[in-house]
Amino acid sequence: MPKTAAKSLAPRGRAGADRERGRRVLLVVTGGIAAYKTPELVRRLRETGLAVRCVLTRAGREFVAPLALAAVSEDKVYDDLFSLTIESEMGHIRLSREADLVVVAPATADILAKLAAGLAGDLASTLLLATDKPVLAAPAMNVRMWEHPATQANLATLRQRGVVFVGPEEGDMACGEWGMGRMAEPETIVEAVAAFLALKTTGPVGALAGTRALVTSGPTWEALDPVRYVANRSSGKQGHAIARALARAGARVTLVTGPVALADPPGIATVHVESAREMLEACERALPADVAVCAAAVADWRAANPARSKIKKTGRPLSLALAENPDILGTLARAGARRPRLVIGFAAETGDLVANARKKLAAKGCDWILANDVSADTGVFGGDVNTVEFVTRAGTESWPALSKDALAARLAARVADALGSGRSAKSRKRSRR
Ligand code: CTP
Repeated sequence: MPKTAAKSLAPRGRAGADRERGRRVLLVVTGGIAAYKTPELVRRLRETGLAVRCVLTRAGREFVAPLALAAVSEDKVYDDLFSLTIESEMGHIRLSREADLVVVAPATADILAKLAAGLAGDLASTLLLATDKPVLAAPAMNVRMWEHPATQANLATLRQRGVVFVGPEEGDMACGEWGMGRMAEPETIVEAVAAFLALKTTGPVGALAGTRALVTSGPTWEALDPVRYVANRSSGKQGHAIARALARAGARVTLVTGPVALADPPGIATVHVESAREMLEACERALPADVAVCAAAVADWRAANPARSKIKKTGRPLSLALAENPDILGTLARAGARRPRLVIGFAAETGDLVANARKKLAAKGCDWILANDVSADTGVFGGDVNTVEFVTRAGTESWPALSKDALAARLAARVADALGSGRSAKSRKRSRR
């Protein structure tokens, strides 16, 4: 049972201490020949400032020495679910909860099948089932195993659940065959991790100094009577992340949020509302702004005549008359002189993503739309991963699967580019006086 204390191999220096305050990757190494590349992967991940902790399966140990991983990660290597020492020191649940991202590399056909089926027979599969953190996998296997319908079905299932994949690549394989199935190179995996965690895109710090931003977030609640309401599944995670990213870039942000289970982001003026009409009022009060990002999932309808007292059962079907809510994005985009220079919306679609986003862009008069697929099982609502098509009048870009923070950082960088060094809403307001 290798639990090599790396302290004896490489003393923890200042870099190690800094790392402990930083972000953590839990690397699960399973049994493929490509496992021999994982010490190099660990080294490169640590060069980006990430702390890396390794979990090694029994088969993985055949291809890479636990001691090698312990030395490069400067940490213990965990490989036995039933070790009482591990359970008392760490526990498989804590192991995954303490990471910002779980990386599986190499990810064999076997671990992907276990993950898809929800099996939990060893430490690696158990922590993958128990984790509440995003998972990024670098598959590696023989080309026929890769192409097998069972593997492809497992991949489809896992993608739907929000697992992000990097590779595999095409090339010569250890088994002498040629084709798809080589694990992505360590630098490619590091790039994917960095993009996912926004390591290199922590946002353009200071680039939005002197500008004002308005962000809507979360669902709206539309009262039917004093106790009941119509709502939707929005968690507000994406909108709040955008508010934080714009603030980090230096913007003065007003966040108008529907009811969410999230803390108010520090340093951001947060206005709490319930209904779409309240949200619109709060947004209008927050103008002028240089940029408005409408990330809220606003209810399209409200009860036409909400009951003053609780609606009682009568034994007959209940019909509710619904009235259409104001369109906040459309209103901001058509606010004349008060229109923010940049108006950005989201499009939650369950089909024809780009075509529907283009229609929305034109109908609402906004500048950009981030379109995401919210079909059942994409994990967008409440999840931590988002994959969008970035639609502008000039064209469409497919953004990779990103954490909601990374997506927010990327958007903030684009906003900073678009606003450039033009005058802020505040200075325009001053010159109108
Ligand atoms: N939106 C808004 N006010 C509304 C409805 C939507 O500001 N009353 C904004 C959302 O914040 C999002 C964008 O409009 O930025 C698109 O939201 P979506 O729900 O995808 O589109 P809808 O306009 O509701 O159209 P539909 O439901 O018919 O697809």
